[in-house]
Amino acid sequence: MSVSLSEVRGNRLAVIGSGAMGGGLMRALVNHGVLDASQIVATDIDEIKLRQLKEEIGVEVSRSNVSAVKSCDIVLLAVKPQVVPLVLAEISPNLLSERHLLISIVAGITISQLERSTPPHLPVVRVMPNTPCLVGAGVCAIALGTHATEAHRQVAHALFRPMGITIDVQEEWMDAITAVSGSGPAYVFTFIEALSDAGVNVGLPRNIATHIAIQTVLGAATMAAKMQRHLAELREMVTSPGGTTIAALHVLERNGFRGIVMDAVLAAVERARTISKAAEVE
Ligand SMILES: NC(=O)c1ccc[n+]([C@@H]2O[C@H](COP(=O)([O-])OP(=O)(O)OC[C@H]3O[C@@H](n4cnc5c(N)ncnc54)[C@H](OP(=O)(O)O)[C@@H]3O)[C@@H](O)[C@H]2O)c1
Repeated sequence: MSVSLSEVRGNRLAVIGSGAMGGGLMRALVNHGVLDASQIVATDIDEIKLRQLKEEIGVEVSRSNVSAVKSCDIVLLAVKPQVVPLVLAEISPNLLSERHLLISIVAGITISQLERSTPPHLPVVRVMPNTPCLVGAGVCAIALGTHATEAHRQVAHALFRPMGITIDVQEEWMDAITAVSGSGPAYVFTFIEALSDAGVNVGLPRNIATHIAIQTVLGAATMAAKMQRHLAELREMVTSPGGTTIAALHVLERNGFRGIVMDAVLAAVERARTISKAAEVE
């Protein structure tokens, strides 16, 4: 079975948890015409978020996860990890079945944890997005559960494509992906802030320092994405013998810049594993 975008358009989607990520996904789906607003039911415990979404993009809203799941084929879990057991206890017995597709973007909750707490044969897909998804420039890593088919994979790609790039990954890589692209924007924001501070330290006005720091990161990332050359080659292009760049790189290397980044990612992976253990949904 293969699923085209038109078939995705034939489905109804329940988004359980209409916060930053759930709300962002619904906005992207409607604004990009992937789904019609009438095909989406948004749930949340916060009336204000629901009212805003209804006014802004016209989706159906409900405070009842049960009634949302009853009327939909695809169920997207977008609540915080600690709320997942509560939500699954509501929607899993007598409601979820093999006819549904359960997609989870919840950090730290594994496919097998979800499969163990839902009816047998339920297709499950796990997706790890990141916050740049909110501006259409995100990374969405997609892993399939035991009963998810090629058709379900295509549905997941079609749903998340408006939020950025979508890539297929093995579920065992999810903690590493969480640590690199999930948490990665925070590392980059910290770097931009540091570069701006550094500019101020050598005499630039703050607004100019921040503006050029942001554009430098954006420009370098765009170059790396578009030119498809090895990163070392791109770095060589700015590093002339005896010049300013090599002097700065010397300081970064002497202070263990790469080692610090590696340690940071390692710490995030360890934390993801701890969260996963603590969030056992059984
Ligand atoms: N933000 C990221 O960068 C990112 C990246 C990858 C994955 N994720 C995952 O995405 C999920 C959502 O993250 P988020 O940042 O969008 O969180 P969020 O903004 O807090 O959104 C979650 C929403 O769910 C609502 N909620 C709480 N209990 C509920 C219930 N029983 N039924 C329905 N809705 C309920 C919350 O309402 P209240 O606020 O009133 O509690 C909130 O509006 C998390 O599991 C996170 O791990 C996030």
